[in-house]
Amino acid sequence: MLFGKDALEMLGILDGINEVIATTEKDGRINAAPLGIIRNEESLYIRLFNGSHTYDNILSNKWFVGNITHDSWLFAESALGDLSQDYFVRREGLPVLKDAESWALFKCEAFPLDIVNAEVELVKGEIQEKKFRAFNRGANLVVEASIAATRYMALRSDSYYKELLKLRMIIDRCGGPREREAIDRLMNRIDSYSHI
Ligand SMILES: Cc1cc2nc3c(=O)[nH]c(=O)nc-3n(C[C@H](O)[C@H](O)[C@H](O)COP(=O)(O)O)c2cc1C
Repeated sequence: MLFGKDALEMLGILDGINEVIATTEKDGRINAAPLGIIRNEESLYIRLFNGSHTYDNILSNKWFVGNITHDSWLFAESALGDLSQDYFVRREGLPVLKDAESWALFKCEAFPLDIVNAEVELVKGEIQEKKFRAFNRGANLVVEASIAATRYMALRSDSYYKELLKLRMIIDRCGGPREREAIDRLMNRIDSYSHI
């Protein structure tokens, strides 16, 4: 187990915005959703938008687990839907994504506001599996598309839909089967929601 600020680098949390999948829980049910952890040297904070399970759970429990993974499929899936409980394991009692390369427990004391800007503090973390890989534009763009999809669902703006169509073309060209499946599922969700 890794502790303290020195552990951040080892866990893969570097300067800038670290896109992770946050696992939180309520009444024993684990929730997962993408979340950005912003690091500026030694300071760490998150921006939470009201209206999500992640917001509610972090405000009531005052902690979350940040799961570091390069599997962009998980970003797409957890951005608009729920991951089944089979995707998680308990590590020291905490909800962790089975396939995360590393995970880290963060403390977060925040006041409820529409947009919460809250400092967070690393408590401890663990490396589960170190994998290295080449950059894949398709995988990166699946993360980008997941953001555009959440914004499209919130604002229904045509510009996000157009962005998604453009991203899809590059993902289809540069990604592998998993990335292509991720964007297909994301677009289907948008379509099915749009018709409701
Ligand atoms: C890559 C990515 C990063 C995101 N970062 C944040 C964030 O920092 N803060 C936030 O409130 N929502 C963020 N979101 C949006 C939430 O993940 C999204 O609203 C999600 O549906 C919340 O799910 P939940 O209700 O299960 O918590 C992000 C989405 C994506 C795809």
